[in-house]
Amino acid sequence: MKEDIQSILYSEEQLADKVRQLGREISRDYAGKNPLLVSVLKGSVVFMSDLMRAIDIPCQIDFMMVSSYGSGVKTTGVVKIMKDLDTPLEGRDLIIVEDILDSGKTLHYLKGMLLDRHPKSIRIVTLLDKPDRREAPVAADYSGFVVPDQFIVGYGLDYAEKYRNLPYIGVLKPEIYTK
Ligand code: IMP
Ligand code: MG
Repeated sequence: MKEDIQSILYSEEQLADKVRQLGREISRDYAGKNPLLVSVLKGSVVFMSDLMRAIDIPCQIDFMMVSSYGSGVKTTGVVKIMKDLDTPLEGRDLIIVEDILDSGKTLHYLKGMLLDRHPKSIRIVTLLDKPDRREAPVAADYSGFVVPDQFIVGYGLDYAEKYRNLPYIGVLKPEIYTK
């Protein structure tokens, strides 16, 4: 796998430091509450599992899986729920946990859908943010790193389902996805 990586963008240590910092902020902001962390499968599982251990107040977790509707290359932003949450959201403080915020279309749609279930609040935490690519009006409440417009993999992020298990985040060599 590592022969396909052009450069390491964030090392294991840098990721661990950032996740600890995000965990501290969330613990402080949600003191006295019992937030529900919602992970959108599959990319955010690695971040989720580290982040939940960096939060030192009571919290709960749940997972959902969505797939984008659309004709091939063009994403409409309309998503189909492949696996829904098990937890009722009425009155809950939700924190959506994302690996990377790119066009924002998926999250914009998802947030609207979850708001219809009357949670008390919804915030978004994303490890990585590519603001230059944003097309939908959605912003992260907590974000780890602002990343340049490059295709990156590792720490949960994939290319064609590969590289999710790399412990660091790296830039994929362009010849891997152009060949
Ligand atoms: P969007 O914000 O609706 O465009 O979708 C964001 C999703 O696109 C993320 O959850 C990732 O699955 C994927 N994605 C965007 N940029 C990258 C990248 O650089 N590497 C791997 N996956 C990415
Ligand atoms: Mg994803």
